[in-house]
Amino acid sequence: MRRTVIAGNWKMNKTFSEAEDFFISLTDALNEKPEDEFDNLEVIVCPPAVFLELATDFSVESPLSIGGQDVSAENQGAFTGEISADMYNSIQVDYCIVGHSERRKYHSESDSLINMKIKRLLENEVTPIFCIGETLEQRENDITKEVIISQLENGLADINMEDEVIIAYEPVWAIGTGKVATPEQAQEIHQEIRNWLNYKYGKEIAENTILLYGGSMKPANELELLKQPDIDGGLIGGASLVNDTFEEMIDIALQLRG
Ligand code: PGA
Repeated sequence: MRRTVIAGNWKMNKTFSEAEDFFISLTDALNEKPEDEFDNLEVIVCPPAVFLELATDFSVESPLSIGGQDVSAENQGAFTGEISADMYNSIQVDYCIVGHSERRKYHSESDSLINMKIKRLLENEVTPIFCIGETLEQRENDITKEVIISQLENGLADINMEDEVIIAYEPVWAIGTGKVATPEQAQEIHQEIRNWLNYKYGKEIAENTILLYGGSMKPANELELLKQPDIDGGLIGGASLVNDTFEEMIDIALQLRG
């Protein structure tokens, strides 16, 4: 059975003391629950890079995993401002978002660059959370499936999927807009992704790959999304910034899947 993943993407938010307060409250809430509740549920927080060490200090004492928000396509060297996958590995950062639509849009990231980043992460035993999704224009032009398949083909080129890659379907028009995909719209694309994985890599990989939905996910719409057979969890932006809301979303996932 695939585990459920509830992942928070803080983007560029919070100061150090706000981050610290958040982790105190979150880890207290997680540690109050019986450990076996987390056998099938993984909670991940992806804070800005400057807070990662703080975050991993908290995560060693609780059922919490930590992820980066982006990674360099290079291994090391003269790349000012960049962070390598090896650096993440060296401070127990186990996950990293890659190919987020904001990186694609504001930093012109291409599928081939994203492919290189995924390779660096896998070489350094950091699990990629690989984001794909169509724009509103692409959806209106009825090319959603073509866009998704092309992002998968190019982003995962030469990757054998023997090491875990989490895939997050995030329709660009639903990110930070309050417009959420309906459970049926999300399920349709998740099923398409799983069918593609089956065709490309076979049944076992298709059945074991975790597929997250992202885009204005919040307590009010989470349950119906998680009930869909091919949606294994969420990549949550805005709603992951507030302790009460994020903790409520963890509780909803636990009730359904824990
Ligand atoms: P949102 O962001 O939940 O604020 O829409 C999701 C994401 O960008 O990962």
